[in-house]
Amino acid sequence: MKILVTGGAGFIGSHLVKRLVKKYPEYLIFNLDALTYAGNIENLREVQNHANYKFIKGDISNGIFIENLFNSYQFEGVIHLAAESHVDRSISNPTVFVKTNVLGTVNLLNSSINIWKNDLKNKRFYHVSTDEVYGSLASKGLFNEQTPYDPKSPYSASKASSDHFVRAYGKTYNMPYVISNCSNNYGEFHFPEKLIPLFINNIINSKPLPLYGDGNYTRDWLYVKDHVNAIDLLFHKGKNHETYNIGGFNEYKNIDLVRLLCKKMDQKLGREHGSSEKLITFIKDRPGHDKRYAVDANKINKELGWKPSITFEEGLDKTIEWYINNSEWLESIASGKYKEYYKNQYNR
Ligand code: NAD
Ligand code: TYD
Repeated sequence: MKILVTGGAGFIGSHLVKRLVKKYPEYLIFNLDALTYAGNIENLREVQNHANYKFIKGDISNGIFIENLFNSYQFEGVIHLAAESHVDRSISNPTVFVKTNVLGTVNLLNSSINIWKNDLKNKRFYHVSTDEVYGSLASKGLFNEQTPYDPKSPYSASKASSDHFVRAYGKTYNMPYVISNCSNNYGEFHFPEKLIPLFINNIINSKPLPLYGDGNYTRDWLYVKDHVNAIDLLFHKGKNHETYNIGGFNEYKNIDLVRLLCKKMDQKLGREHGSSEKLITFIKDRPGHDKRYAVDANKINKELGWKPSITFEEGLDKTIEWYINNSEWLESIASGKYKEYYKNQYNR
């Protein structure tokens, strides 16, 4: 089976590609990635020489390129992760989110249906999406698969739009698809612009920890390898034309999460208890900041038996240890353009 993974040099995509290449030697895994600031080919070093793996550099928003690629390789499955993924960047530059997340998805849908339309059997377009499409929750309730879409940031609006396109192609062209909407991931190889890796990097470097607003915002956190387990399962066993929510059953207020992170970092770095917490700095809130995300992941649990394999504390320990032991990965990112982004975003 020839499978195209898009965005396979990013955080979740690189974990997924490594899993698929190693677990399914009978598959050919093609990794298409534009290598934007978020893509890092180094993330794939352990599979780069495998016979069933091929990297292709390219931009999903280029329709002609995508069409030629599909005609050449005749992929049988697509797992689509390529996206602009950071809410703060979507606030300062929304247009690229439309280009990649909406137009890029439509290009992939067009080219998939073009080569599949005469034989839809054993074909699958798997669209990886986010719980942020559902908007924001008050202190009670959970997002389930029936929750109406109510995106609040340019990022979530672009992902919501791409989800609608996938479903529309299902209805209009009978495109065989599965969509999953997952909560916040964390783990190894996470770009240090999102909360957990940014704060780990800043603690290592004794820099301020910029917490938006009062820090009383809630997210549901899932270890990235558990998300990858779910994607693997749904790609093979999810029902056609269905949506599945994926989550960690693990809600944390930002301030509580950051305090836990600080405590663990002090222990692992051998620093005096309380020293990392002193770095917490409350800063101006993110515009339109979603108050709370929380996912009801019971459908995938009941239908397919999926559940997170490790606790948040275990996952956080593994993550912190990886960043401490892979300082050169962090350092190579944190030089160059990242410095410019950091200065613009945090005025420091
Ligand atoms: P990421 O930003 O780490 O990686 C995105 C990858 O896509 C990068 O390798 C980048 O180079 C590539 N890319 C960007 N624009 C491209 C383009 N035009 N053409 C080809 N490649 C392009 O993102 P991530 O955190 O790994 O997220 C992957 C997917 O999962 C996204 O679709 C995201 O919306 C979704 N998701 C992420 C989370 C999370 O917590 N990170 C949670 C739920 C869903
Ligand atoms: P983030 O990792 O950007 O994910 P998302 O916005 O997609 O949920 O942010 C997670 C939470 O952490 C969110 O409530 C915003 C907050 N946050 C901060 O307080 N400071 C920061 O510097 C960042 C990046 C995030």
